[in-house]
Amino acid sequence: MPATDPDPHALELAETAAAAFRDAHGEEPDGLWAAPGRVNLIGEHTDYNDGFVMPFALPFYAAVAASRAEEWSFHSTYGNGETVRATELDGVEGWAAYLAGTAWALNESGFPVGPARIALHSDVPVGGGLSSSAAIECAVLIALADLYGHEIDRGEAARIAQKAENEYVGAPTGVLDQSASLLCEAGHVMFMDCRDLSREQVPFDLAAEGLAMLVVDTQAPHRHADGEYAARRADCEEAARQLGVASLRDAPRHAKLDDDQLNKRMHHVVTENDRVLKTVEILRTGRVAGIGDLLTASHVSLRDDYEVSSIELDTAVDAAIGAGALGARMTGGGFGGSAIALVEAAAAGKVEDAVISAAAQAGLPVPRVFVARAAQGAHRVR
Ligand code: GLA
Repeated sequence: MPATDPDPHALELAETAAAAFRDAHGEEPDGLWAAPGRVNLIGEHTDYNDGFVMPFALPFYAAVAASRAEEWSFHSTYGNGETVRATELDGVEGWAAYLAGTAWALNESGFPVGPARIALHSDVPVGGGLSSSAAIECAVLIALADLYGHEIDRGEAARIAQKAENEYVGAPTGVLDQSASLLCEAGHVMFMDCRDLSREQVPFDLAAEGLAMLVVDTQAPHRHADGEYAARRADCEEAARQLGVASLRDAPRHAKLDDDQLNKRMHHVVTENDRVLKTVEILRTGRVAGIGDLLTASHVSLRDDYEVSSIELDTAVDAAIGAGALGARMTGGGFGGSAIALVEAAAAGKVEDAVISAAAQAGLPVPRVFVARAAQGAHRVR
């Protein structure tokens, strides 16, 4: 049974997952679980450099209905609904790889989980850079852990879900998305040190300060995202190697490398870690409006030094700032996906209109804009 009240929206989604489970198997599931997508307020491309991040959970969830069973069976409401049965966990592909991969990673990590029937229903936008895959992994992870009687520390669970993503799905990501989904708390932004996963939940009540956070999903397809992501990681590792440090987290502040590209990558990581530390200091005093310039500086650094932005993201950020946003930046890995803009609540409509018309004028896809609230991390719903 759940320890806390479920998020009402997560409960709604979980009911749909339960209905899909009943359709597929003709019986009630043993339980319902849900895990959210995220935005990262600041601290981008720092996670795999042992640096600092500041995500909060969005009220979009991957919900699963699940029971122990004799054989693995994965069902989802993606497309027209599809069931994948598996006698073993190896070689499962498509959306079901996130489920099978999580079970595999649990087994590999010393938490044996036997077969289960799992039905998935998610409203985390796929391809929006809001961690739809981590949401699935984390929902499945807490479901299987409960069903098979494992109590797993949430930090360790994040590493296990990351292992599923890295080694089973094959995407070389850091630990940001899975820790956000598993560890964020409603009404808070989470300041986390990716070196040891130590963390602080910082109150983040925008409405109380007359502010709002807009999320702009550019609807732009990710282009070359996987290869470019791996290339950035390789640059960072090479820069750290040349400096003789374990990771760029430890780069001396005024270090300089001969190679211009490596220098720019390092400069982003060093300055971004600084910006996270400044952001958390300001937030601890409750003056959220004061972080606007840091958000925008983060974007400029990702655009110019790290080179992971895109025309869609730059257009959204420039339009938001032009229309009076206090700060704006791309969020997540980049190359498409989403941007965020911190605005006075009264200006939200104006900024939204500006972002949409700037995209139209530039001949880009019409973005989907919504107001974010900091939602509850992964939890058992029933
Ligand atoms: C993606 C990855 C994360 C992180 C971000 C960039 O979302 O999954 O691990 O590296 O990009 O901050």
